Amino acid sequence: MNRVVLYVLIAFAAPARLISDDVGRISNGFNGATTSVVDAEKYPFIVSVSLNDNHICGGFIYNSRFIVTAASCVFNKTTAQIQVTVGQLSLILPDPGEMRLQVRAIYVHENYDNITKVNDIAMLETSQTIEFNANVNFTYYDTVGDGPLAIVSGWGAVDESKVVSTKLREARVYPPINCDLFPADVYDSNFMFCWGQSEDDNGIRPCQYDEGSPLFKPISPTTYLVVGIVSKNLGCGDSEIFETIYTRLSAYYGWMLRTGGPQP
Ligand SMILES: *[C@@H]1O[C@H](CO)[C@@H](O)[C@H](O)[C@H]1NC(C)=O
Ligand SMILES: *[C@@H]1O[C@H](CO)[C@@H](O)[C@H](O)[C@H]1NC(C)=O
Ligand SMILES: *[C@@H]1O[C@H](CO)[C@@H](O)[C@H](O)[C@H]1NC(C)=O
Repeated sequence: MNRVVLYVLIAFAAPARLISDDVGRISNGFNGATTSVVDAEKYPFIVSVSLNDNHICGGFIYNSRFIVTAASCVFNKTTAQIQVTVGQLSLILPDPGEMRLQVRAIYVHENYDNITKVNDIAMLETSQTIEFNANVNFTYYDTVGDGPLAIVSGWGAVDESKVVSTKLREARVYPPINCDLFPADVYDSNFMFCWGQSEDDNGIRPCQYDEGSPLFKPISPTTYLVVGIVSKNLGCGDSEIFETIYTRLSAYYGWMLRTGGPQP
């Protein structure tokens, strides 16, 4: 299968740093730690963003007309190339509620920097209204806040094969001890936060094809608040660097409201 891969080369200041193109995959971790398959529609707000019908990124439903994803996923792409699938669990089998939507407009943040990936956020306006049901729904977003645990979920591959996972996967990830692994020119805490690195993660983290996938926190057994979307990291697979940089959604309240209107 031919897959168009969006390799984003990030210019890092620190020369000894491992620079990987494996940005965005929820990889399995060390010592047999694995991600788990999401086999029921627990997270009806998650969408798959595809390029010419091949999954490239995750995203979430903001309201009945708009998806939030990473700018790096759709930057320099046309509406004819990009599709959104809601209600999806398997990329290859039909799921209840699954629906592929065309995109009417792509809004990449005006100040997105395609080199440093600052302001790595975009909204996609779908051509049709998204009908909400048990399998498809919007979610609210919030500040990162406190609390030990968050969940990241997407279709990235689980190993170094660079092939997407056909099944939606999730991993529990814990807050970082610090974020000083990232040089200042790639990490601005006003617009990003980092997450991961804890021993508890066992090396599980997003990698390629998870860009745009939401990081969210449970606020009840069935309700979640999205706090960030996967932007970049310094590798996965056998890399020892666990932290992932997420776009800090609360910093884009005004931009999302102006671009996509209010949430329901
Ligand atoms: C933008 O798209 C054009 C046409 O597909 C391509 O030639 C160019 O390399 C792309 N630029 C970047 C920075 O991705
Ligand atoms: C990406 O950013 C570079 C540096 O700011 C700029 O020169 C280039 O035009 C940008 N690419 C596109 C396709 O906008
Ligand atoms: C969609 O989510 C909202 C906000 O969490 C909730 O109030 C509503 O009941 C959900 N709709 C469906 C059809 O599940």
